[in-house]
Amino acid sequence: MASLPDEILTEEEYPGKSTPARVLVVDDELAIRKGLVFLLQKEGYETLEAEDGAQVLELVLGIRPDLILLDLMMPKVDGLVVCRQLKSREETRLIPVVMITAVYSQDQKIKAIEAGADEFLNKPVSIIELRARVKSLLRMKRLNDFLDRSDNVIASLANAIEAKDKYTEGHNERVARYAVSLARLEGLSKRDRNTIRMAGILHDVGKIGVPDNVLNKPGPLNSDEFSRILAHPGKGEKILKPLQSLSGIREAVRYHHERYDGKGYPEGLKGEEIPLYARIIAIADSYDAMTTDRPYRKGLSREAAIAELKAKAGVMWDPALAGRFIELLQSGEIDGKPMEETRPDA
Ligand SMILES: [Fe+2]
Repeated sequence: MASLPDEILTEEEYPGKSTPARVLVVDDELAIRKGLVFLLQKEGYETLEAEDGAQVLELVLGIRPDLILLDLMMPKVDGLVVCRQLKSREETRLIPVVMITAVYSQDQKIKAIEAGADEFLNKPVSIIELRARVKSLLRMKRLNDFLDRSDNVIASLANAIEAKDKYTEGHNERVARYAVSLARLEGLSKRDRNTIRMAGILHDVGKIGVPDNVLNKPGPLNSDEFSRILAHPGKGEKILKPLQSLSGIREAVRYHHERYDGKGYPEGLKGEEIPLYARIIAIADSYDAMTTDRPYRKGLSREAAIAELKAKAGVMWDPALAGRFIELLQSGEIDGKPMEETRPDA
């Protein structure tokens, strides 16, 4: 799974809140199991039960609960074994597990942590504690689910762009990688870098709205075709608008073709009027465009691309950022490819 989007939504904002969460209670003691089920149902949760650790994995794969209350001490397969199984599988590792133990024991607690348990409750279970733990873990689970869906949307969009523009295979991934390296060197936070990574992947999403014959035309473009290319950053921003979690990325998408001297598009923003993320993406995008072969030209060598970056720093690109990017290239952290002349790329 790709990493998290930049903006963490509040509990009220993310979808799935209205659906009752499904909690699986695993305990070999009937009275305790029924007691927990009763408390959870009173809180409005859907419940499922299992009396034996041996059946848990299969059950979880089938019903996909949102949370598991798991007794540590069970006669056949104990909670530690079950927890390890759940946390080692891609499909189940993000389901929160609350380990329940009869005796407060530091040793058991450590073993449970090692097995991947997310929380603990001691028997007899306190209603207040149960309510608090379940609520907070379910909130985390819903958020994870939402982010997972967002990442799937992003991956689908990225695939759609690549499928449409047949000459730019791998371009979006490379732009994201270069941009993140530059952001790291700039000292930007992990959260910022994550936004930049997704902006890199999605920067040309607006090309979905540009006709294929224009996008893949090998020769020069007429003015109508050119204006369609010029519209792709704005279209990209529009496409991303309904996805709340991507609001931090939209600016970078909209302004990735602005130039430092104010002669770019779509608005002709100048210098630091251009959002930082967009200035970073612009360098990463240009470098990849320069160094990649196209049907009408060969890609530049790394040295030639560095010369181009130096020559047009402060004109095309933020000079400080371009300087940093050159440092990255010279340190060998970013690779280039062989090649010659360039034409402006969409
Ligand atoms: Fe573009």
